[in-house]
Amino acid sequence: SGRSVTCTAPINIAVIKYWGKRDEQLILPTNSSLSASLDQDHLKSTTTASISKEFKRDRLWLNGKEESIENPRIQNCLIEIRRRARKRKHNDDSKSEMLNWSVHICSENNFPTAAGLASSAAGYACLVYTLSKLYDINGDVSDIARRGSGSACRSIYGGFVQWTVGEKKNGSDSIAKVVADVDHWPEMRVLVLVVSDQKKHTSSTNGMRNSVNTSDFLRYRAEHVVPSRMEEMIKAIEEKDYQKFAELTIKDSNQMHAVCLDTYPPISYMNDTSRKIINMIHAFNKYQGELKVAYTYDAGPNAVLYLLDEHVPDVVSLINYYFPPCDNIRETFIRGLKVDFKTDISQELKDVVPLEPSPGAIKYVISTKVGQGPQILPNE
Ligand code: DP6
Repeated sequence: SGRSVTCTAPINIAVIKYWGKRDEQLILPTNSSLSASLDQDHLKSTTTASISKEFKRDRLWLNGKEESIENPRIQNCLIEIRRRARKRKHNDDSKSEMLNWSVHICSENNFPTAAGLASSAAGYACLVYTLSKLYDINGDVSDIARRGSGSACRSIYGGFVQWTVGEKKNGSDSIAKVVADVDHWPEMRVLVLVVSDQKKHTSSTNGMRNSVNTSDFLRYRAEHVVPSRMEEMIKAIEEKDYQKFAELTIKDSNQMHAVCLDTYPPISYMNDTSRKIINMIHAFNKYQGELKVAYTYDAGPNAVLYLLDEHVPDVVSLINYYFPPCDNIRETFIRGLKVDFKTDISQELKDVVPLEPSPGAIKYVISTKVGQGPQILPNE
């Protein structure tokens, strides 16, 4: 006797960044944030959770390797899931008995290992979503995913998703809400530029803790910038106003990284390639006379670009020209991208972007789009 559920969940990339906690235990943020969940074709987490009378204790496997289930963040999610499952009245005795059984959890990411995209967001969203299905919990579970990793709460939904800062001490209003459905802006594309890098970066958790403790600019951002910026961003998305969307996305990424620099001692996640990509994009946008592409960076050197589908070929040519792959192997360079590999750009563009090409500085490009929220897979 037992029961098993398998689900998948997307990664998400914020355009208004979460950076700072006001409560480390419950993972409550200092400001609201907004992201798009990405299509699960290329990047996703998959989790199978099983309960059985036969299992002796709770166990956890990550990418095929057993890990301790005592991890405090996993425990916080598991405890809250079981508490909520108990709260549901089960007249059916067989179901309430199930709550005392141990659980086995197997979680896998299909992120390219070298990509440095090992986002905990998809992992925790998937864990919590899967457990909620296993235990028949209805209603929003984003506040449970939030206890695993802040950004995970946004991966509980598809499309454009806001995580509201909330006011309550228990965090019940610090939850994810859909701003626009996955079908709302179908022209939107996402390019993930995986930057070559060996450095081990400060984790988001430690980085934002240091920022909260030492950066005055973080407080200024939370109080005086994000609230109005968030309203503008939601309006830009609702109206599909790409110019506004791109400007706010660029500014907010730069502001988060400015807060990191204002942290003492300073944190810098970008490297020379990251900065070169920024310069290239600003030069390109200027040459075009309007914003054709927006960049954003998380706690590492990889760039994520938000752009409209009609501009993908030009932007990919630009990337290929300034950041050609060392070995010129096209297939590995352009993952999942059905455009011709061409490195020729106009002489005009070469003149306005005053950069020397950097072969090998970008390992590869993942081309994707805004996608759906977690999915339940049929039982095998
Ligand atoms: C830079 O959600 O990874 O990606 O809550 O400590 O687990 P914890 O941090 P995490 O932080 C993500 C920060 C970010 C910006 C964002 O996704 O909003």
